[in-house]
Amino acid sequence: MAETRTRNTEGTGVNFFLDGNFRPVSEERETKDMTVIGAIPKDLAGTFLRIGPNPVHIFSEEKYHTFDGDGMIHAIEFIDGSARYKNRFVETEGFKLEQAHGDWLYKGMNSMMDPSPSRIPEGAPPSKNLANTAFAYHNKTLYALHEPSKPTIIELPDLNTVGATDFNGKLKHPFTAHPKVDQKTGEMMTYGYAFQAPFVSYSVINQDGELVHTTPITIKKPVFMHDFAVSSKYTLFLDFPITLDIERAIAGGPALGFEKAHGSRIGVMPRFGTDADVRWFEVKPGVVVHTANAWEEEDVVVLQASRSKTVDIIGAGTQAGDALSETHGQLYEWRINLTTGDISEGPISELHCDFTRVNDAYACHATRYVYAALFNPQRPFTFDGVMKYDNASNQETTFYYGAERYGGEAVFAPRLNSASEDDGYLITFVHDETEDQSECVILDAQDLASGPVATIVIPFRVPYGFHAGWVGH
Ligand SMILES: [Fe+2]
Repeated sequence: MAETRTRNTEGTGVNFFLDGNFRPVSEERETKDMTVIGAIPKDLAGTFLRIGPNPVHIFSEEKYHTFDGDGMIHAIEFIDGSARYKNRFVETEGFKLEQAHGDWLYKGMNSMMDPSPSRIPEGAPPSKNLANTAFAYHNKTLYALHEPSKPTIIELPDLNTVGATDFNGKLKHPFTAHPKVDQKTGEMMTYGYAFQAPFVSYSVINQDGELVHTTPITIKKPVFMHDFAVSSKYTLFLDFPITLDIERAIAGGPALGFEKAHGSRIGVMPRFGTDADVRWFEVKPGVVVHTANAWEEEDVVVLQASRSKTVDIIGAGTQAGDALSETHGQLYEWRINLTTGDISEGPISELHCDFTRVNDAYACHATRYVYAALFNPQRPFTFDGVMKYDNASNQETTFYYGAERYGGEAVFAPRLNSASEDDGYLITFVHDETEDQSECVILDAQDLASGPVATIVIPFRVPYGFHAGWVGH
């Protein structure tokens, strides 16, 4: 039987994701009393949000996987040059059951086959909706997302958990952590992937928050499909080769692994299309975890994403001997001519990056700029800096956080009365590992290289996490 222990907040050295600044925090806090280096811009009004895994009750520290942690939100609200920090757990049903029980009830993905008796109470969900991965903001509603699960509604400004929603019973499939909101039409496009048929299902939610369209999407075997893309006319599905293969697992390999022979295909479907409308285009085999954006240029659909040569999902890139550069993506572009069927593709930047973002107001339409976090080449899941890629000049500008300082996803926040695509700020959390100090860093998106316009020193530790978001006032 696996050893059962609860969390040691100092870290134990047995699991990369429970040590250093990956280790969780246990307190929920709020403060306006923070040191600011520089000045918080007065034309920054809204809430910067970051979500990530913050486990409370752990079945096995050794086998704990970072994807299993309970969701915690860290937020900074900006009003008139001042800032308020607040962090809260996402109080999902599974989280509340474990709180009431005072110990673990759910074992986690690496321990599901452990023979110890189940503790999941009768009538409780068979798996935890962790709501730990990313945000969507649509129809004035903030969602915390976890791709096997339903979206969890969160109230601003206090980060109260309202609960999971199935859109009045109409959502019949899992809901990706990366739905796309077209702010020009008000529609939100989403999909879910599953390991039983249909392997992919797709839905559109209209500007009033009503789910108005659903279709299955046929692919030949189950794949890990973490993200997709949407242009103004089309939805793009990525049937890429991170496959689920039980026979491979029985033979001693990973259940979820890179299978080059599966190939890579991009499916292009009209926004309100159905399975029969999908046109599949074969592209070079590779791995895409996150897309940046898609748009049309006459007959050509353009897709930009971070793409790597391979991936280690289950090890999350932390196992000894991994060639990190092979698993670290680079900005990459596919151009698919829907009239001729011609495809051109290739990297557009040499820098290794992920957490690709655009200005949310321009998503699903042509974007000039992509923002992305720059990988630390030495250590998994840590980011040395941030880049801005300019499609007009094909050049990047970068800002690096400095020695022993690591950041996460940076999001674009438009300044009040923003006049152009990059007229605003890039915001991220940075942790100084020498000082064990967490900061919120605000950069001028038009001048990254000059460094922060403001650095807010947070009097509490903010662990490294997954995705960030911005909700303007
Ligand atoms: Fe993601």
